[in-house]
Amino acid sequence: MSDVEYLKSQLTAHPDFPKKVESTLGIVFLDIFPILRNPLAFETLITHFLHHLTSHTIAAAPNKKIDVVVGLDARGFLLGPILALRLGAAFVPVRKQGKLPGVCVSATYEKEYGTDSFEMQADAIKPGQTVVVVDDLIATGGSAKAAGELIAKQGGKTLEYLFIIELMFLKGGAKLDAPVYSIVQSD
Ligand code: ADE
Repeated sequence: MSDVEYLKSQLTAHPDFPKKVESTLGIVFLDIFPILRNPLAFETLITHFLHHLTSHTIAAAPNKKIDVVVGLDARGFLLGPILALRLGAAFVPVRKQGKLPGVCVSATYEKEYGTDSFEMQADAIKPGQTVVVVDDLIATGGSAKAAGELIAKQGGKTLEYLFIIELMFLKGGAKLDAPVYSIVQSD
């Protein structure tokens, strides 16, 4: 079995979670936590991302390195620090509004109902630094787009957006200012 098939086999599907939406047929929540509780699967996941980053992303980067890994609230916090440490890069969190101390930059994004704001500490990224963004899943791409805006506001260059799962039918990647890399594509 390939790495990708193995990781896909670890995901679990939860129909109607977190709530049943009458108007939307076939929404299934895909849970990544079974990967994290299986050390072999977790190692396979991190190694897969690192292999991709070193063989593709860093090879194509203007400075031939990734300076910063940005992780999105909340499951991006479980992946980003591990990738950052192994790359020798900084880890920077993007959090929901009001959670980070000091001066922050903020960007709003559309949610299912209304809008929400994401923040990043204003001195977290220096102009010209190369950045990758990581989260567990891309759906509509709204939160990843807001993160990209925060990086751009600080003069950072987003090289790529990384996800375990990409919900292809929502076309979230089309909103973003850099390519998406996903391990599992779901329809
Ligand atoms: N976030 C948004 N859509 C999701 C889904 N289908 N599964 C898991 N997380 C999600």
